[in-house]
Amino acid sequence: MRVLVVGAGGREHALAWRLSRDASVTEIFCAPGNAGIAPLAELIAIDPGDPDALLAFAESAAIDLTVIGPELPLDRGVVDRFRAAGRRVLGPLRAAAQLECSKAFAKSFMARHAIPTARYQICESSAQARAIVAAGALGFPLVVKADGLAAGKGVVVAADRGEADAAIRAAMDEQQFGAAGARVVLEECLVGPEVSFFALSDGSRAIPITSAQDHKRIFDDDLGPNTGGMGAFAPSPLLDAASCDAIMARIIDPVLRGMREEGTEYRGFLYAGLMLTAAGPQVIEYNVRFGDPEAQAVMPLVAGELMPLLMAAAEGDLGGRRIELEQGVSAAVVLASANYPGAVRSGAAIGGLEQASQMPGVTVFHSGTMTADRQIVTNGGRVLTVVGTGATYQDAITRAYGGVARISFAGMQYRRDIGRKALGTC
Ligand code: AMP
Ligand code: GLY
Repeated sequence: MRVLVVGAGGREHALAWRLSRDASVTEIFCAPGNAGIAPLAELIAIDPGDPDALLAFAESAAIDLTVIGPELPLDRGVVDRFRAAGRRVLGPLRAAAQLECSKAFAKSFMARHAIPTARYQICESSAQARAIVAAGALGFPLVVKADGLAAGKGVVVAADRGEADAAIRAAMDEQQFGAAGARVVLEECLVGPEVSFFALSDGSRAIPITSAQDHKRIFDDDLGPNTGGMGAFAPSPLLDAASCDAIMARIIDPVLRGMREEGTEYRGFLYAGLMLTAAGPQVIEYNVRFGDPEAQAVMPLVAGELMPLLMAAAEGDLGGRRIELEQGVSAAVVLASANYPGAVRSGAAIGGLEQASQMPGVTVFHSGTMTADRQIVTNGGRVLTVVGTGATYQDAITRAYGGVARISFAGMQYRRDIGRKALGTC
């Protein structure tokens, strides 16, 4: 089987790496990929946001399955193009991808299908938003969200009316997120630990993959600005088998059912970002793809062959298949460039990659790297994800940080507390 992975980050490296271990996978291509993916896959210089170019390549290279990593190609309708051309692809159609790409769509969808989520108001103008804030019906703190994709920066948890008004002004009047802020969603603030839950859907049936916990803030103890994710561990010790069943029944299955009722179909990975509140799990957001860095934490735990499952989901027939996981847990530490999540400089030489990768229970995934003068150098904010696996969270954390200690590049920054929340639980 020939597989094309679309994307350039650590998630795509983890997917390509896991697929490379499957007997049925004979060749992997990655568009555009990065320096860490190069030894596993042929890198194809195609923009992931260009559906025509991706389809033309998949046809010319007789690709059996294309797996879409990030949300942008989904929002651009890559899956629609592939499906119309009769080419196998894993990911949701553009209409279904609105579940992630428009927060207003997601909230209305959840309301239509009785999925537990925070109370909200969709605002079409800043005057309307300010009036709702002034009325105070959603309380404080209040969450202000730009409707569209804003690279993880479009959400503000406003402590009071002043902060809420400032967030509305930034999104709607100053258009700091461009068209993504033309509408905003105001949301009641939920309280509780955050957990990510992953499933794989064939359109009419979904199977659970596992859960994870992300570390979104840049600094230890969840301080500082939000990032794309500074680390993760999997699975989450906060969910037992009964809670996973309840999440499938109340939060995952209603998406498939709702999409079908509304005339579209949800195939692909489905990621629910949840807050475990006193009233039970509530949806903070859906993502229509795997998480990054959660995929790096989860892929080393997937047992057996992954490719047949992805093929079956893409074909709309998972049948009775299940995803089996290895015994054990993982911790994934992201190594980032200086000044991330602000503007960063690329091109710093990276040392110690070989030494880290050779350590038992350690896997190094590349998030933003490239090759320059036959040397692997940094290329972006998040540079590497170092994953440790082990029987306990402490083993996994010790291994991950053992790998981190071998690696260096100018300006390297990372959190020292990845996985600490899970300690004491197993
Ligand atoms: P999102 O982009 O929707 O995932 O939001 C980014 C982050 O903002 C989440 O990971 C939460 O930590 C926080 N957040 C979003 N919505 C809420 C909410 N209703 N209550 C509390 N925190 C929230
Ligand atoms: N780790 C968060 C995300 O993938 O959106």
